[in-house]
Amino acid sequence: MNKQEKIVLPKGCLIIFEGIDGTGKSTQLRLLAECFAGFGLPVVTTREPTEGKYGQQIRALYQNRHDVTMEEELELFIKDRREHVDRLIKPALEQKKIVLCDRYYLSTIAYQGALGADLGAVERMNDFAPTPELALVFQLEPAIAIKRITEKRGDLLNDFEQLCSLNKVSVIFDNMDFPFIQRIDSNQPADRVHADVIKTVNSTLPYIGKCLC
Ligand code: TYD
Repeated sequence: MNKQEKIVLPKGCLIIFEGIDGTGKSTQLRLLAECFAGFGLPVVTTREPTEGKYGQQIRALYQNRHDVTMEEELELFIKDRREHVDRLIKPALEQKKIVLCDRYYLSTIAYQGALGADLGAVERMNDFAPTPELALVFQLEPAIAIKRITEKRGDLLNDFEQLCSLNKVSVIFDNMDFPFIQRIDSNQPADRVHADVIKTVNSTLPYIGKCLC
């Protein structure tokens, strides 16, 4: 098939990219999106927090998280996701597109759970959100992730990224057992991680994998 031609999939597909900060998941999302687009697959990329009004309020919290309670913070993430699901995710899935989403409700369970929210309650608050077909959970030791954030990106740590809380977040991600989770070792060069991502897509989503050749 001409690679420029758009392949029509039998259904939409939501793939989420999850894990602690500094695992390189955003780079992997971009690489997978480029790969899919190169094979003519209909792909949409997006992320949470979004650029919408609630997402912007969340970003303003990055520098001073103590201005709000955990409950208020949780509510903002849920409102942001509702808007995201209604405006972008559901319509794109209805149009049989592949949606690659950088963070989704597993992040809420892990991050707000690390702040003390009840994990089951957070999961139930997300009942409105379409279940992903695949969650790629990128794994990396929190100490290495922090080193990457500060050394490679040259960033200062924001309030979401402090080592102690990142450790707690990491443990919650490690203990999640949703059937759609596949774990990816991020402690290797980006091209090797990408190869693992492709292998995982091939084995878990064969109707997409068969288009990648
Ligand atoms: P991040 O992916 O780092 O966004 P950006 O690259 O735009 O800075 O996400 C920002 C932070 O938000 C990250 O530390 C995780 C946190 N977060 C939550 O605490 N709960 C959530 O539900 C989501 C989606 C993100």
